[in-house]
Amino acid sequence: MNNCILVTGGAGFIGSNFVNSWVKQGFGKVVNVDKLTYAGNLENLSGIQGNEDHVFVQADIGDSKVIAELLKEHEPKAILNFAAESHVDRSIHAPGEFIQTNIVGTFNLLEEVRPYWNGLNEREQGDFRFLQVSTDEVYGSLTADDPAFKETNPYEPNSPYSASKAASDHLVRAYHHTYGMPMLTTNCSNNYGPYHFPEKLIPLIIHNALNDKDLPIYGDGSNVRDWLYVEDHCSAIRCVLETGQVGETYNIGGWNEMSNLEVVHTLCDMLDLQRRKDAGSYRDQITYVTDRPGHDQRYAIDATKIERELGWKPAETFKTGIEKTVAWYLENQSWVENVTSGEYQKWVGKNYQARENV
Ligand code: NAD
Ligand code: TYD
Repeated sequence: MNNCILVTGGAGFIGSNFVNSWVKQGFGKVVNVDKLTYAGNLENLSGIQGNEDHVFVQADIGDSKVIAELLKEHEPKAILNFAAESHVDRSIHAPGEFIQTNIVGTFNLLEEVRPYWNGLNEREQGDFRFLQVSTDEVYGSLTADDPAFKETNPYEPNSPYSASKAASDHLVRAYHHTYGMPMLTTNCSNNYGPYHFPEKLIPLIIHNALNDKDLPIYGDGSNVRDWLYVEDHCSAIRCVLETGQVGETYNIGGWNEMSNLEVVHTLCDMLDLQRRKDAGSYRDQITYVTDRPGHDQRYAIDATKIERELGWKPAETFKTGIEKTVAWYLENQSWVENVTSGEYQKWVGKNYQARENV
């Protein structure tokens, strides 16, 4: 086994932030396996281009042959599974890809890791880790008065996306209990930060505001999410990888619940500061549109376990994190232009044209 990790989905939003900081901080070699779907983008990794600690392989996690060859060639000490179809609205329009990648793909990946792990010697087997990157959405929806999600909450997924993530988490759990493989699972709340694809709320609002487009709010904007800066999610994953108890799950969150309307108002007010005073407020572009079917009302993470047992804490508050994020989008308009040309326009048409203003 080598001092090397294999990351799946490392050209997406969170995966690329993770790979960038891993390589830049000199933690060792990363084999980055990504299919490069619409959400994967090699531009996210341009800062480590040519770095010999980064090996990029364009492949599907479900491609057993490629995965088996990569495991044999690189002998990684850990596998971190970020690869997924990740957008709830897309899972409502077309759930098939979510089943294929999130469930079947993860299953195929596990089926290649199993003989690899079996072939390691006893010490290496003990040192090896498979870390499943999951979401708080598997726990379902909370009412305003419910306590935040704990690791002991039952899984009650409500969208095809969260159901497919729940299924893959269950497979990971089963491989620990049945085969004794050293698995870890993290369930994180909503991330935001650089390289966030502008189909998700925060980058979509920034992009639409700057392009004089409507700022679509589903329903009445009262739905609540817990928001965490992406680099804090990455530091939590590194912490769980290093010190987490095998077979355990860890919730990751920022203790930062906000309604969608509060998030959008915050963004409008920040962007207004960049504007001529007589140009009005971006708040005027807010439009209420038909709600998402089955829209989960509230997610909230109780991060006590990772904080108490592993000593992890987020470095950013929402204020500092969102300032960094808005600054990044303002400085990286060409990145946004590149990812919003072509296919993206079709998605916007499909998701928003059918929604009525309410
Ligand atoms: P993303 O959609 O931005 O990126 C997903 C990446 O996976 C892309 O690079 C894509 O090309 C790749 N991919 C998709 N299918 C693949 C396949 N079959 N084989 C190989 N690569 C494939 O997603 P993200 O927001 O970066 O999320 C990463 C992980 O974190 C996901 O597992 C997601 O469920 C989880 N998560 C996300 C959030 C969030 O707020 N975004 C919060 C908690 C957990
Ligand atoms: P999103 O970023 O898609 O993340 P998730 O659904 O995984 O939490 O959405 C965050 C919240 O913002 C969610 O309650 C849905 C809402 N939303 C809108 O109101 N308008 C939009 O255009 C989008 C994309 C999301």
